[in-house]
Amino acid sequence: MVATEILRTSDQASYERRFEQIIGNSPALEAVLEQVERVAPTGSTVLIQGETGTGKELIAHAIHNISSRCGRPFVRLNCAAIPLDLLESELFGHEKGAFTGAIAQKIGRFELADKGTLFLDEVGDIPSALQPKLLRVLQEQEFERLGSTRTHQVNVRLVAATNRDLTEMVNRGEFRSDLYYRLNVFPVLLPPLRERREDIPALVMHFVEVLGRRMGREIEHIPPETMSALSSYQWPGNIRELQNLIERAVILSNDGVLPNPLPAAETEQRATVSLGATTLGATTLRDSERTLILQTLEGVGWVIGGPKGAAAKLGLKRTTLIHKMQKLGIARPGLQSSENVMGPGPQVPDSFARHLSTN
Ligand SMILES: Nc1ncnc2c1ncn2[C@@H]1O[C@H](COP(=O)(O)OP(=O)(O)OP(=O)(O)O)[C@@H](O)[C@H]1O
Ligand SMILES: [Mg+2]
Repeated sequence: MVATEILRTSDQASYERRFEQIIGNSPALEAVLEQVERVAPTGSTVLIQGETGTGKELIAHAIHNISSRCGRPFVRLNCAAIPLDLLESELFGHEKGAFTGAIAQKIGRFELADKGTLFLDEVGDIPSALQPKLLRVLQEQEFERLGSTRTHQVNVRLVAATNRDLTEMVNRGEFRSDLYYRLNVFPVLLPPLRERREDIPALVMHFVEVLGRRMGREIEHIPPETMSALSSYQWPGNIRELQNLIERAVILSNDGVLPNPLPAAETEQRATVSLGATTLGATTLRDSERTLILQTLEGVGWVIGGPKGAAAKLGLKRTTLIHKMQKLGIARPGLQSSENVMGPGPQVPDSFARHLSTN
């Protein structure tokens, strides 16, 4: 029984670590994370698609981190950033003298990623001349270094990402259909931020906290107009744009108040923004944090830990959420100490534990 308990605790801790950096609890994001959990342990190829800044690279890391390959290398290659001839040697490596300028032997990314994960970013930009070679290594798990006839066997899990419409590229003859089908074993589509606006307040607060700490500028107050302007903006650059705008706002902040970093034209005629059932009337960071935590706890029936718990949904460690709840004076309404279903966990004071449940 003790052993089971320990197993459950460590399972839970590792779950929290997995998605710690992925903020948001919109149904759209939840659906993506469920797919990630399902496919990660399988070793199958994953194709992540989504607009720029939607978190494709973050998801690629998460897939690796919760797979059995997590102790092995995670190797990334951006196919768009490298000219054709260099890209081939980046992927497969080369022998000394394989081409002019090949002054030493080079190990390619497929070899470096052996037993681990290779993340091919911007895979839609891979030149047509290289597509057959990529297909072969994906199918056979074998390749030759440039300038060598020796065949290398590898065991690589491929995660690919693109913000281009690959089916459209296949129709136009710019992307080989056989490679597309080989990549598209398990597609994950990341929704743009404007289609999951419920996540905006949590993301804003996350970046305010992280960037404020990094820059030594503590933000204590987010005016409701600012939060509502941020919540109703279109975010063409998605989460990366949000992150950059929050950084600008933190720099421009005075007396701990977060200014609205959006241009005036974007903010006109936008009153309060309704977030699901409740309107987030943010007056201070403390208030908006409190509202968000309460809403989330109520949404999950006051479950704190575990995959479906409030901590995971808020992208927080269980202990961090408990600490925040204590700080903000949030407790489950109407629960007697005798109904405590969590038991006094190691990090939770008894006086507080009775308000919580873990599953
Ligand atoms: N759900 C999220 N929670 C917290 N941070 C996020 C989330 N999604 C994305 N980010 C952050 O936003 C930034 C952009 O994410 P990422 O680089 O993964 O996007 P991308 O889809 O790969 O973009 P691009 O197509 O431009 O390469 C990163 O700093 C990432 O950490
Ligand atoms: Mg990226």
